[in-house]
Amino acid sequence: MQIAIVSDIHANVEALEVVLADIKRRMIKNVVCLGDIIGYGPNPRECLQLLMDCKMVLMGNHEEAVLYYGEDFNPKAREAIDWTRDQLNRPDRPKEENYDLWNFLGVMEQIIETEEAMFVHASPRDPTKEYVTPDDTRKNKDKLRDIFTRFERVCFIGHSHIPGVYTQELRYIDPKTIGNEYRLEDGRKALINAGAVGQPRDGDPRASYVTFDGSAVKFHRLEYDYKKTADKIYKEPRLPNYLGDRLAVGR
Ligand SMILES: [Fe+2]
Repeated sequence: MQIAIVSDIHANVEALEVVLADIKRRMIKNVVCLGDIIGYGPNPRECLQLLMDCKMVLMGNHEEAVLYYGEDFNPKAREAIDWTRDQLNRPDRPKEENYDLWNFLGVMEQIIETEEAMFVHASPRDPTKEYVTPDDTRKNKDKLRDIFTRFERVCFIGHSHIPGVYTQELRYIDPKTIGNEYRLEDGRKALINAGAVGQPRDGDPRASYVTFDGSAVKFHRLEYDYKKTADKIYKEPRLPNYLGDRLAVGR
């Protein structure tokens, strides 16, 4: 059975619509969302609504910050969180619609483990906060080794917005160097980052997501109208302009 894994949408509905259309075109019915549906971008309500029917949804640090308190966010990011919270409480929308959005945030899981894989927003050690980046394969080998003890075969993560494969040999593989497809090796574990739908940070502005059939992971990149998303950010005084600028460069 094929599944699609999406992460870090960040209220970018233009990117999300393109990705969901591509998933539909592939006739994949099961979508797993690794969190950070909201935060940074201009369309939190629409993105939550589009993902309410997902098979599984994990909580990201931005959902956590909207629900509780964004202690580890800088003042500008906190302002974007506060703006997002206000959007979910909009008095000009039906109360029931607002309740549905909040209820959806309230049922998100921290970690999900199935027979085939583990799913978590950030890392199996710290489900919403710990970053795993390519640098860790050189600078933090013990951290990576410890993370590999915490899942059975394959674990899907987001959070860093950098797609790729981390092998049990502590190597990072850029999807571009392997034709955007990684086949799991017998008896070897893999940590897979799905990249970001709505705010890629690997220098490629295209939306990122992955599909998985139980043995191979495919990385997909899709163009979308980032200028439209950026314009909405520029028009909203409480969202800093750099959040729009970065969409053009994928940083
Ligand atoms: Fe994120």
